[in-house]
Amino acid sequence: RADVFTYDPSYTSTAACDSTITFIDGDKGELLHRGYPIDQLASKSHYLEVCYLLLYGELPTAAQLDDFEHRVTHHTMLHEQMQYFFRGFRRDAHPMAIMVGVVGAMAAFYHDSTDIHDSWQREVASIRLIAKMPTIAAWAYKYSVGQPFVYPRNDLTYAENFLHMCFAVPAEEYKVNPILARAMDRIFTLHADHEQNASTSTVRLASSSGANPFACIAAGIACLWGPAHGGANQACLEMLREIGTPDRIPEFLARAKDKDDPFRLMGFGHRVYKNFDPRAKVMKESADEVLDLLGVEDKPVLKVAKELEAAALADDYFVDRKLFPNVDFYSGIILEAMGFPTSMFTPLFAVSRTVGWVSQWKEQLADPQLRIGRPRQLYLGETSRDYVDIENR
Ligand code: SDX
Repeated sequence: RADVFTYDPSYTSTAACDSTITFIDGDKGELLHRGYPIDQLASKSHYLEVCYLLLYGELPTAAQLDDFEHRVTHHTMLHEQMQYFFRGFRRDAHPMAIMVGVVGAMAAFYHDSTDIHDSWQREVASIRLIAKMPTIAAWAYKYSVGQPFVYPRNDLTYAENFLHMCFAVPAEEYKVNPILARAMDRIFTLHADHEQNASTSTVRLASSSGANPFACIAAGIACLWGPAHGGANQACLEMLREIGTPDRIPEFLARAKDKDDPFRLMGFGHRVYKNFDPRAKVMKESADEVLDLLGVEDKPVLKVAKELEAAALADDYFVDRKLFPNVDFYSGIILEAMGFPTSMFTPLFAVSRTVGWVSQWKEQLADPQLRIGRPRQLYLGETSRDYVDIENR
């Protein structure tokens, strides 16, 4: 019913936005953070340095990096009372449900960093979110497996700390393997920001109304949970398990091509990249390194992954549509090899993407012309009509 849709050109929707943080060229398969190519950052930098770059626009000097890492490290603990939020959930609650709840609850805890008009409070909220997200994700995991919470340690790097909080137990020493820590840091770096993806757009729309910063990030976590977005790595591993053995791969490839079948090849394709996702290339290198280190390439689900990757890359349907393995395909393989349950894959993505959400939240609030978001619609409904009494219907 497009005839009833009248466009009012004076109405400015905020469906699009200006940004200086991340640039993607989907056709070229290019991803830049503040101008720096992602493959260079993933091989030469590390997650907290990339956080600094995304937040402040430039690579830090050694002194600036030391100060930033010190501030983040010394904000990794949660208010002790926040433990009671975790204990209110059922043990089988999905960790993403816990993260949405606990991060939203930070709005009720950290009152001294919720005034979005105060630049210092915005800065404190940013550091708190980046610093505490790994602790929240790790404690959601510990709660789900019935193990005691492990507190953050200031002598560990960001990635080492996360692995230690997830896998250490009071009963024995847990030594973080440096290759796994490097792979973890690379996963964090490669998922840090990605222009106006669905969850980042959700954070921007929520913050355009002046909402509490922690509530805005909780909204981003909720959106990321979807299997078409951040939930893809969990959905991908569940799909690989459903395939079960390499001989069933043709059956699933046929289903993915069948327009009448809602099944999609999880971990393949991208909304923007119509070439190979540049992050996937780097993530693939880490996946090969981790599988080799752990000697688990013969694990059935990982064997299926390897053979599915080869089969899709040799299939015209997927190649013609540029449906290549995306970043979630390879990150899912690494996390599976590391021993994370699939329910922890998307929480990990949320930990990493917090800096992207926060950087874009800060950028948007700095815009003096900021107006509340109001995406447009194309009205296809009924034209005006009179009410009909129930006896005449
Ligand atoms: C992320 O936006 C971001 O930046 C997201 C993200 C980030 O960092 O924030 O990169 C993270 O979300 C990565 C994507 C993870 N999602 C998945 O892996 C889920 C599986 N992928 C699909 O759901 C799909 O590829 C999407 C949602 C990612 C993209 O869907 P689109 O935009 O509809 O895909 P398209 O327009 O490029 O589709 C082109 C064709 C269509 O067929 P035709 O109409 O041309 O015949 O390819 C088909 C689609 O039906 N297609 C698939 C497919 N993806 C697209 N067919 C089978 N399996 C798939 N996975």
